[in-house]
Amino acid sequence: MITEEIKNKLRAIVGSEYVLDSEIDRFGYSYDSSFVQFSESNQPDVIVRPANTKEVSAVMSLASSMGIPVTARGTSSGRTGGSIPVSGGIALSLTRMDKIIEFDERNMMVTVGPGMRTMELYNHCAEKGLFYPPDPASWKYSTIGGNIAENAGGMRAVKYGVTNNYVMGLEVVLADGSVIRTGGKAIKNVTGYNLTQLFVGSEGTLGIVTEIVLRLIPMPAARNTMQLMFPDIEQACGTIHAMLQSGLVPAAAELMDHTSIQAVARHRSLNIDPAIGACVIIEIDGEDDAALQKQASGIEETARRFSAIEVRTAANQAESDDIWSIRRGLSSAVGAMAPNRFGEDISVPRDAFPDMVRRIRDISEKYSLTIAVYGHAGDGNLHPSVLCDMSNPEHAGKVHTAIGEIFDAALQVGGTLSGEHGIGITKRSYTEKALGTAGIEAHKAIKAALDPKGILNPGKIWEQPVKEGN
Ligand code: LAC
Ligand code: ZN
Repeated sequence: MITEEIKNKLRAIVGSEYVLDSEIDRFGYSYDSSFVQFSESNQPDVIVRPANTKEVSAVMSLASSMGIPVTARGTSSGRTGGSIPVSGGIALSLTRMDKIIEFDERNMMVTVGPGMRTMELYNHCAEKGLFYPPDPASWKYSTIGGNIAENAGGMRAVKYGVTNNYVMGLEVVLADGSVIRTGGKAIKNVTGYNLTQLFVGSEGTLGIVTEIVLRLIPMPAARNTMQLMFPDIEQACGTIHAMLQSGLVPAAAELMDHTSIQAVARHRSLNIDPAIGACVIIEIDGEDDAALQKQASGIEETARRFSAIEVRTAANQAESDDIWSIRRGLSSAVGAMAPNRFGEDISVPRDAFPDMVRRIRDISEKYSLTIAVYGHAGDGNLHPSVLCDMSNPEHAGKVHTAIGEIFDAALQVGGTLSGEHGIGITKRSYTEKALGTAGIEAHKAIKAALDPKGILNPGKIWEQPVKEGN
């Protein structure tokens, strides 16, 4: 328990209105966007909302001296329970630190606070003709700090990579309250270990990121969206594979299987031809309309070779936005199909993608479970979603076995457990299989060096006894 005396110290650091401890607030900060069910023990004792690095540092220094767990969070759009405070203690909300600190057009870099929303950053840069490409599906509400914690990806990873490809430097408050800076604006930098990239994807377990330097690139002058419909997922996968092999690299290449398409149809009350077994959404970009036209013809020609039923290129921005809004709302649409949904995030080498899709279909048939398959096919990152009813004992008995087999299959084809959502709580029992015992020990050694008291987001990434907050 956090005593009134400690709460008063926290109030003195951030101001009384930014220390919350009512029952409803504690409930509100006990979940994220994963399928982790509410539990009393996942509630923070207190929520603290600092305004700047100095306040974060003072909070960490107090927490460290008292051994209080601290779980940082942005807007809780995470998919794996990364920001759920499983040991109680402090939920450290960074949403007030949401400003652009410096916009450096000459170096094409921006320095931001962790609480800034991803899409807001994108829009701000776009106004100046610059491009911040990472676009997780949740970008309207996800924060840059959360994107860094989970190394978020998104649709444009095929051509532009993920969050870590844009992080140049960080300001980080360590577990004991000390403040370090890593990296910076120099493009080449080999002074010391690459701590910047160590913090990216560390899920709030190694430090609290308080400032971020991101590199930007010129905004492509032209952009368009294509929607391809196929009778079967095999042809959709074949098209994406052939397109990439031919050297055509679109900004995004997203796949939706039959179940996912039906989920959209239900969600939006659309009539979709039942003969359509798979849909591929592609974003192309380039220097002018002629460059787009060339890519579009190459893609159409490939899709027709793979028996595409329909190839449509958006006629205007509104049509393009509509296609993307369907894709961005897909996770919610799929989730609404069944009482329970376990949405995974495996990532496999590009050439193993068609094989992985086949393996998932086999697992779905073996266990008679509906598994919707959609995701970022162009980069090999897939979100198989098991749709089930856990109150049905027949489902409850086999869902986790089926998910375990999906992970095994991903590892067998040279892939991994997570491409962009992180491990959090939901996948931690599989981490050792993916990293090996020595790999986990190396992780533990790094954790112990940076957080010797184990107060930063305890209980995440690998299995470990959860400490009671004091
Ligand atoms: C998506 C999220 C779930 O791609 O990552 O929709
Ligand atoms: Zn995704």
